Amino acid sequence: MRSESPFLTAFLILAVSGVARAQDDEPMPLQAQRLEHTLGHLAADYARFGRSERKEHMAMAREAERIAKGLRAPPDVAARVATVRGMLDASAPAEDVRERVDDLRRALIGAYRIEDAPPVSPSVTHGRALYEQNCASCHGPTGRADTARAASVRPHPVNFRDPLFGETLTPYEVTTTVRFGIAGTAMVPFAALGEADRWDLAFYVLGLRHPGPLAVDPPAYSLSELANRTDEALRAELSTVPLAAADVEPTVAALRRKVTYERRRRRGALALARAQIDRARVAGVRGERDEALDDVREAVTRGLRPAEAALSSVDPAVGRALGGTLAYLADRVRSGAPPAEVDAAIGMALGALTRADRALDASYARAAALHAALGASSLLAGMALLMAALRSRNRWPRALLAGVAFVGAFGDTHPAGALFAPPLASDLPPSTPRSVPPTDARHDFAS
Ligand code: HEC
Repeated sequence: MRSESPFLTAFLILAVSGVARAQDDEPMPLQAQRLEHTLGHLAADYARFGRSERKEHMAMAREAERIAKGLRAPPDVAARVATVRGMLDASAPAEDVRERVDDLRRALIGAYRIEDAPPVSPSVTHGRALYEQNCASCHGPTGRADTARAASVRPHPVNFRDPLFGETLTPYEVTTTVRFGIAGTAMVPFAALGEADRWDLAFYVLGLRHPGPLAVDPPAYSLSELANRTDEALRAELSTVPLAAADVEPTVAALRRKVTYERRRRRGALALARAQIDRARVAGVRGERDEALDDVREAVTRGLRPAEAALSSVDPAVGRALGGTLAYLADRVRSGAPPAEVDAAIGMALGALTRADRALDASYARAAALHAALGASSLLAGMALLMAALRSRNRWPRALLAGVAFVGAFGDTHPAGALFAPPLASDLPPSTPRSVPPTDARHDFAS
């Protein structure tokens, strides 16, 4: 969308959001995002503090209603905000408020084409410098809000290391907090910071929560997944992946401090499937059902199919589950299911992808370990090649090459060589990862 003419963008906004009648009205993306931010903060604060902050919450809800009255899309926006205020008034359960608010936020993001993920990888050094300059005096250099200035501010600056706040924060929400501030507190908007600054800061803030060691080989999450997931959500997703309890925290840390900053796109069919599902998510939020469906189909034909044989030889159940979740996602999109259901289906598909990724990784690691255990000196050269390939960033193509060379050399003479054959052969043409062109002009964040 970024590169298209303003006219086309405006047309699409009008077409999608159902405000085609009001052509003389400028779309108001900034106000829409302000509303989206205000509602998000309100729902989070209500979940944390419930009725004890009632006065503040009602003030925020009134502010949200005021902004909503100036917006034309989605068509019933003011009424929907009023419903949320009514729920607060009636002390509705926090999860119900959260659900309503998230539906409306999604509608606003879709109608106004709000970017909820960065177009390029963030910079950790720039993020750190900005943080130290602008935020550390209140939030503390390590995020603990333990400075003299923090002690003098009421309400207190948020301690990012406190799970009550930190676990439920997404990088995207940090960007809107920096942009709009929080009314009535010392958290003022930082108007001098631009879009890229906000993303650099936001990912840095989430990284502050994870000072510990990093997992050696974290799953290949995309930038837009990382931008829109809380740490709580990442942990929940990882708990469905076969991962030792001791590895969960290093894996979350690696997602926040390593995967986020990887500039080179991960290669391989499953990474491609991830990128396609990402596109489907964006198309879905924008109400483009046909495009979303095409994206899911691509995830199957260019992602799942090429990896299918490898998966079924390694762990058929994982492969079947992946196929099943993609089929379910396609069905939800095709039948025009409510956004929350499509989102849940996307979450399931991404979870299944992560599991598939791990299964393939583990199979290579197991095979390598077996060779080491056999201790056959004739295999050492191949082993070294393979281990080097596994350690390199670009591990898939190189592991394939190393594996092919290895199987070529030893596959016929050593029973363990057979372990390599099925996954390797099936992952080669017609869709060798290398030959796949850059996937995405529209929404590819992972490059
Ligand atoms: C003058 C002190 C001060 C400075 C400087 C400051 N903040 Fe804050 N920040 C606060 C306070 C106070 C709150 C808590 C507001 C509340 O109670 O809702 C807060 C809250 C937040 C939150 C939590 C929002 C939520 O939804 O709960 C985030 C994220 C945040 N700040 C990020 C930043 C970033 C990034 C910077 C630097 C660009 C920054 N802050 C600079 C005082 C400050």
